[in-house]
Amino acid sequence: MEVVSKIADLKARVAAFKASGKTVGLVPTMGALHNGHASLVKRSVSENDVTVVSVFVNPTQFNDKNDLANYPRTFEADRDLLAGLGATLMFAPTADEVYPEPDTRSFSYPPTDTVMEGAFRPGHFNGVCQIVSKLFAFVEPDRSYFGEKDFQQIAVIRAMAAEHFPSLTICPCPIVREDDGLALSSRNTLLTPAERQIAPAIFKALSRSIAFSKQHSVAETKQSVIDEINSVDGLEVQYYEIVDAIALRSVTDWNEAEHIQGCITVFCGHTPIRLIDNINYK
Ligand code: PAJ
Repeated sequence: MEVVSKIADLKARVAAFKASGKTVGLVPTMGALHNGHASLVKRSVSENDVTVVSVFVNPTQFNDKNDLANYPRTFEADRDLLAGLGATLMFAPTADEVYPEPDTRSFSYPPTDTVMEGAFRPGHFNGVCQIVSKLFAFVEPDRSYFGEKDFQQIAVIRAMAAEHFPSLTICPCPIVREDDGLALSSRNTLLTPAERQIAPAIFKALSRSIAFSKQHSVAETKQSVIDEINSVDGLEVQYYEIVDAIALRSVTDWNEAEHIQGCITVFCGHTPIRLIDNINYK
């Protein structure tokens, strides 16, 4: 695996692969890689001749300076993991390389980017669209891989890709979890042992609500999840929304949409660490 940090080198390598007829998969990441990321890379390696993985902690999607400063950075371990998985190219640029001048573009795909994370992290999805659209333009991949862990991010990127990169296929990949159900996240390394112990209550409540939802309304199901998680000392739900899986509009009835997803954000511990998760109802 080759590691490149310059856009010109990335483009030159990718152009050479394409000239010999190779298909290209792209996996955008912010590093601190774990098995969730690895599942995306494995899928890309199995479906494409060439897999490009970007590792870049994108400043424009952080609306909290502390969150950006505390974000884990593990370059050597990431490089070794990616090489072992069979990735072809690791693109690890500096912020100056990606943003030689401030990116003033604005992207707007309501309601996908205005609800939930969009409401609580203003500007977040604009930053995600800025970096992902740059990566799509640099690499022009055949397919790009995203985890359902960030369910809303996929909806926003689908909308952005439909507008600007219509021939690119967005491939959603299932959430990878720890044995106790906690969704893998780079932020999990920031949890204290005590916080790590209570965090699985999030997925437990979401899982239990599947059976509950068969006999109860959307509003009752929503409240039961919120109450169950808030009853755990050290956990506090920021929002739990039950939405249609495409536009992410809240539903009031289980028959309102073909596919329905529950999306949650929970504060864990005193720092606190913000954990997100989601579950499919139908
Ligand atoms: P990051 O949080 O590093 O995640 C990179 C990709 O890995 C995302 O598509 C995310 O959904 C996926 N992922 C993370 N945890 C996962 C898990 N437990 N199971 C399955 N997939 C998982 O998401 C971002 O970076 C950034 O916003 C990015 C798209 C790279 C733009 O900067």
